[in-house]
Amino acid sequence: MENQAHQKPGAHIVVLTGAGISAESGLKTFRDTDGLWEGYNIEDVATPEAWERNPALVQDFYNQRRKSVLEAQPNAAHYALAKLEEKYKVTIITQNIDDLHERAGSTNVVHLHGIITRSQSSKRPTLTYPINGWELGMDEVCQLGSPLRPHVVWFGEMVPMIETAAQICAKADLFILIGTSLAVYPASGLINYVPDEIPKIIVDPKIPTVYNVANIIKIEAKATVGVPELVGELMG
Ligand code: APR
Repeated sequence: MENQAHQKPGAHIVVLTGAGISAESGLKTFRDTDGLWEGYNIEDVATPEAWERNPALVQDFYNQRRKSVLEAQPNAAHYALAKLEEKYKVTIITQNIDDLHERAGSTNVVHLHGIITRSQSSKRPTLTYPINGWELGMDEVCQLGSPLRPHVVWFGEMVPMIETAAQICAKADLFILIGTSLAVYPASGLINYVPDEIPKIIVDPKIPTVYNVANIIKIEAKATVGVPELVGELMG
């Protein structure tokens, strides 16, 4: 890498992850073959209208997903990213709603699309609660008496953390993109906030197309192969 900014003491490494980093933990991605959106319509389970129309179907969809998340384990890629914190300031910005980064030991994780292990008041989104176990019941209510829904950002909803995420990307000394098709905005636009001179390393067996972005380095590999190798180099 010609730009060695990330080697300076206290360098800040920013990592943007998508479903691909959790694929080898057994969690389905969304748009790969046999992806989650092949089995379900986004309009039926991942929009505010779906919640209004059939909350039980939405609740069941996320209960099943939560069960899979709790049964999954972090993989070598999650653990490698946690290890990076021994030498660098690391911020992980994830589109994933699983908690595998946290369970692998990463301490600075920004969940753009929420996290499935918490619920939120359907009346006041900033009221959130931990969910014990995998099932969020239809009878559970917040302290205002409104039904609890998954603490997840649905299609058509605002992404509260996107401004914070963009500011973090603008200050990256090194940017790493792992396991995302970059199909969903505004997350897919974050790479454009990283300064031109900063290296942007993409780890994915099928590297997504990125337009008008300088200084891209491609690692065509699965996360559990490419990420530990990259971290080994960075920790060297
Ligand atoms: N290792 C690394 N990357 C992988 C692996 C793997 N083992 N397997 C698949 N991938 C890559 C695919 O090549 C693809 O680029 O992971 C990416 C998965 O893309 P998507 O399924 O579109 O997932 P993601 O980009 O995270 O979706 C973004 O869309 O549905 C919404 O809210 C949902 O957060 C999600 C957002």
